[in-house]
Amino acid sequence: MYSYKSLGLVNTKDMFQKAVKGGYAIPAYNFNNMEQLQAIIQACVETKSPVILQVSAGARKYANQTMLRFMAQGAVEYAKELGYEIPITLHLDHGDSFEICKDCIDSGFSSVMIDGSHHSYEENVKLTKQVVDYAHSQNDYVTVEGELGVLAGIEDDVVAEESHYTQPEEVEDFVKKTGVDSLAISIGTSHGANKFTPDQCTRNEEGILIPPPLRFDILQDIEKILPGFPIVLHGSSSVPAEYVNTINKYGGQMKDAVGIPEEQLRKASKSAVCKINIDSDGRLAMTAAIREVMAKKPEEFDPRKYLGPGRDSLKKLYAHKNENVLGSAGRA
Ligand code: G3H
Ligand code: 13P
Ligand code: ZN
Repeated sequence: MYSYKSLGLVNTKDMFQKAVKGGYAIPAYNFNNMEQLQAIIQACVETKSPVILQVSAGARKYANQTMLRFMAQGAVEYAKELGYEIPITLHLDHGDSFEICKDCIDSGFSSVMIDGSHHSYEENVKLTKQVVDYAHSQNDYVTVEGELGVLAGIEDDVVAEESHYTQPEEVEDFVKKTGVDSLAISIGTSHGANKFTPDQCTRNEEGILIPPPLRFDILQDIEKILPGFPIVLHGSSSVPAEYVNTINKYGGQMKDAVGIPEEQLRKASKSAVCKINIDSDGRLAMTAAIREVMAKKPEEFDPRKYLGPGRDSLKKLYAHKNENVLGSAGRA
């Protein structure tokens, strides 16, 4: 058993309270390797932003659970070494069973998500409450994120063809019965780099796909029902055209990629949305930079020569998100 406090981590309680009051959102960035983690920490220290480090089930398989814990502890020390202490949470992304949540809590995570959104409402309540009871009974309170409503897109083990928006009338009952600390809702965001099919979008004069707007009306209804309760948005990458174009220019094949426009995320950040999940944009930034080096310098075979530029591009992206999209810069 490891206590997250002994690793220098914090839960999301205080972070979320400040974010809701301050009208900004905490960035939740996924990581699987050292370069991604370095980029997150460099950007968040430089912009003085709190941060949630997210680990998916796929990341645990890829990198190993023990490695990830030590990496998160290393991230805390690295931030100090860079000269500015920021609040850092280690969070399980899309836990799909009690067992995975318990495993993570026991091994030093300060926050977990139990994603019961693919179950019936009653099953979701039961599973979520089981995780909450365990997490909240630890000596150091572990925070829990639940989910109501289904996002379209592909996650590691879960595939949803269609999204189902969160029903505001269920939210109060769910929060009361489960005791979750925050709630992920479905208002039109979706996972991955192809969030909408071309026929769900319109096109501007240049032929660029314009996605349907987020359902701010649902968000507002939820805020009325539970004022100030921390809301989470998954699937919030914007899929910047510059990365997709670079990837395709240097041999990639990404077709009809489309994300959530940054202005809409900026607007959401000013509401009760206090955590915004971004993974795909990081993948795109890193892949674009690596493809460019590979194409322009075919003689290179030292991984530092392409992972380094990949890391720099990621850092730039995260700093931009903190400063211009989530508004978390200067809040640590
Ligand atoms: O929501 C899913 C995250 O982007 C994690 O993706 O399961 O492929 O690690 P992954
Ligand atoms: P994106 O695929 O839009 O980056 O969403 C990531 C996410 O929701 C992780 O839980
Ligand atoms: Zn997600």
